Amino acid sequence: MTQMNQILVVEDEVVIRTALKRLLERQEYEVSEAGTVKESLEKYDMEDFDVIISDLRLPGAPGTDLIKASSTPVLIMTSYSSIRSAIDSMKMGAVDYIAKPFEHNEIIESVAKAIREHAKSTPNDKPAADEIEPPVHGMIGSCPQMMELFRRIRKVALTSSTVLINGESGTGKELVVRAIHNLSNRLDKEMISVNCAAIPENLIESELFGHEKGAFTGATATRTGLVEAANGSTLFLDEIGELPLHAQARLLRVLQESEIRKVGSVQSTKVDVRLVAATHRNLKRLVADGEFREDLYYRINVMTLLIPPLRDRGNDILELADVILQRTCKRLKTAQLKYSNAAIRAIAEYRWPGNVRELENTIERAVVLAETTEIGEELLAIDGEVAKTDSAHDATELPASKPVEELSLEDYFQRFVLEHQDIMNETQLAKKLGISRKCLWERRQRFGIPRRKKH
Ligand SMILES: Nc1ncnc2c1ncn2[C@@H]1O[C@H](COP(=O)(O)OP(=O)(O)OP(=O)(O)O)[C@@H](O)[C@H]1O
Ligand SMILES: [Mg+2]
Repeated sequence: MTQMNQILVVEDEVVIRTALKRLLERQEYEVSEAGTVKESLEKYDMEDFDVIISDLRLPGAPGTDLIKASSTPVLIMTSYSSIRSAIDSMKMGAVDYIAKPFEHNEIIESVAKAIREHAKSTPNDKPAADEIEPPVHGMIGSCPQMMELFRRIRKVALTSSTVLINGESGTGKELVVRAIHNLSNRLDKEMISVNCAAIPENLIESELFGHEKGAFTGATATRTGLVEAANGSTLFLDEIGELPLHAQARLLRVLQESEIRKVGSVQSTKVDVRLVAATHRNLKRLVADGEFREDLYYRINVMTLLIPPLRDRGNDILELADVILQRTCKRLKTAQLKYSNAAIRAIAEYRWPGNVRELENTIERAVVLAETTEIGEELLAIDGEVAKTDSAHDATELPASKPVEELSLEDYFQRFVLEHQDIMNETQLAKKLGISRKCLWERRQRFGIPRRKKH
């Protein structure tokens, strides 16, 4: 009989702990549970486990206290929307971190990896902390979704798989593509970028694939296409949803056979190109409408990176607003400006349909127009019509629609929770505040407004 691997799950939230236990048991692990560090140490011998999975923030001591308790590898879970705490955990010797909410596959992979590596490694053989820094220089984000995105960028960059990047306009698709290229082993050769929407339909095939002399009127010389120019490097096809159907057929062939045939040529040449494609459109819908080839869709949908819209990134919005303001003031050589509280609130509540690009433009306009060192709400000229709270059928509106008074975000949070907790459940509250339930719980603890017991 083979011995089952033993895992200890330390998590104070019973729902998460139970879900995790079930998930791991389905993978044939034997799972023990504890709610705190203290309970773990009292109940079990840490050396008996192959892996410990612990939440970072626990009542009493933090999960990282378990790292030094034994030589057993510790995976730290964190929902605390700060990459700092994840980095700190790694520095303290955690073998990996898992951002909550986690994906099942990810947790299973991390556990398997920790067991595998622990079996063969020396105790000091820990991954370097900088492996979990944001992979893109200047790309800001520490909410769980962005951390997950960074993690995936890092993973996928090392492979040659085709990547599809999906995100609304202005979410940072181009930054992500650059990161993938720069982290890959193709970085020595310049990436070739093509905006499929910007090239006239009748020229796109010869632009991309090249043509033979005389292939069509005007083809006075043989020409190498952009795909061939990207040989040994990365080809970035921006707005791939706009690629005409006939060009899609040729592209499919390149992907299937790693060969390229110029327009008007019978010969093909081998190419080694890594394709990264981006679109703000729903390709699946384009497939359903007959505008995008289904076979090509499956070819490029090997690995999809979804960039969340800015409005879903929680506190990242304010972090971005601060950094962009600093940068803009420097660039425009003005004094260092600040936001008024009302401006901060307006930024946090607006929907940002144009995402980070719109935020950049809004801030630049405000900096240019500012006459004092404070940027007031009116300078942002944010259209209140499209404020974040758009669901008309909801019973409550955020206090945004009430007369504006000076409130810090923390006051705002507290007041909102106090005013609405009797009529909204935790899920509704979290949704309205644009944060996860776990994050709501954590803030309740931090601000001393624990959940009321139902009576
Ligand atoms: N997370 C981020 N941190 C800092 N700057 C960002 C971030 N995301 C985007 N930006 C900035 O926002 C602007 C828009 O980003 P980018 O061009 O990559 O978006 P996009 O998704 O390609 O947009 P589009 O769909 O319009 O092509 C750029 O100036 C970029 O530097
Ligand atoms: Mg772009």
